[in-house]
Amino acid sequence: MERTLSIVKPDGVRKNVIGDVIGRFEKQGLKVVALKMASLSKAEAEGFYAVHSARPFFASLTEFMSSGPVVLMALSGEGAIKKVRDAMGATDPAKAAPGTIRKDLADSIESNIVHGSDAPETAAFEIGYFFNALEIKR
Ligand code: CMP
Repeated sequence: MERTLSIVKPDGVRKNVIGDVIGRFEKQGLKVVALKMASLSKAEAEGFYAVHSARPFFASLTEFMSSGPVVLMALSGEGAIKKVRDAMGATDPAKAAPGTIRKDLADSIESNIVHGSDAPETAAFEIGYFFNALEIKR
């Protein structure tokens, strides 16, 4: 079983689509194994997105990610990383395939509703960034 981290970003919480996003993951057969709402500080968002710190959009991205509450979750299942990424669609909603979360719900490449880990090593870092062992269902 593989695990991945997903985030319903501040725009997703504001648009009232938390349940819609989680429901799409559950329809892929994924299990929610950890779940919480949090309001990230700018520094916490910067730590999470540290790999993007040299990118021109880093300041704007971390400002956006700390602009309101987010929903953090760990998901478990066979091929969980790919299942979540397929359900999300391309980073830029304009390029996302029909029926994906970003095509259906997102406004822009920055306000793109949802995050999903891109590889097993990233997933391990990202789950550990937000959840301790006691918060993850065994
Ligand atoms: P995410 O999957 O959370 O990973 C990094 C995020 O940076 C990405 O989703 C987008 O929200 C954001 N991002 C990526 N590319 C750009 C860009 N060109 N301009 C603004 N934000 C971007």
